[in-house]
Amino acid sequence: MTSLQTPLYNLSEFPLVYEPAEDTHLFLDALEKDMDNLLQIKPVTICEIGCGSGILITALASIFKNTCCYFCTDINPQACLATKNTALLNKADIECVQMDLTSCLKAQWRFDVIIFNPPYVVTEENEIKGNGLNRAFAGGKKGRIITDKFLKSLVNILSDNGVCYVLFLKDNILVEVEKIMQQNGFCSTVIMERKIPGEHLYICKFNKKH
Ligand SMILES: C[S@@+](CC[C@H](N)C(=O)[O-])C[C@H]1O[C@@H](n2cnc3c(N)ncnc32)[C@H](O)[C@@H]1O
Repeated sequence: MTSLQTPLYNLSEFPLVYEPAEDTHLFLDALEKDMDNLLQIKPVTICEIGCGSGILITALASIFKNTCCYFCTDINPQACLATKNTALLNKADIECVQMDLTSCLKAQWRFDVIIFNPPYVVTEENEIKGNGLNRAFAGGKKGRIITDKFLKSLVNILSDNGVCYVLFLKDNILVEVEKIMQQNGFCSTVIMERKIPGEHLYICKFNKKH
């Protein structure tokens, strides 16, 4: 199995950026577990939405190196700077632009791999408009306001043979999401799950049905 190392990072100058936590590490473990499948699709474009510290996309860049282009977005401008810094520390070449999901990209942009560890905690709706750290966790109703908006756009940003990995919490009611995605032409598979104190997390993989 190809092992995925945790990249070096330093958030001391970026106090409003989400510090990698259990969810981030579950995501790294899931990508490592699915790496043989990822290698098989020979991606040339990889995108992370909500990159935070940037360690997930930087870890992928350490595997695919210069065979791929790496692009990420975060609504928090400090996260974009932190990600550029993480890329630099690990000698990776990653573009990061501040935006809401992929809203500033041209309609023709498609990615072979998309990853998103979204703000997934069930909160009051107004909390999702807070500062950098609030936006890292606050997911509004069912913890799915941001995730649902992202998944709606997935058909237009994922290449035909591409794969997308998203993190969910039990409270997000994943079966509901899987049903909607099925109706929208996607297959879904839970590739890893983990119970941590107070949370049950899942990494779900989506691909287009052929
Ligand atoms: C749970 S944190 C994950 C950070 C990092 N990817 C990780 O795994 O450690 C969620 C990230 O999504 C970003 N985010 C929240 N809403 C967003 C949106 N509408 N568009 C882009 N990024 C968003 C947050 O700023 C935060 O960096």
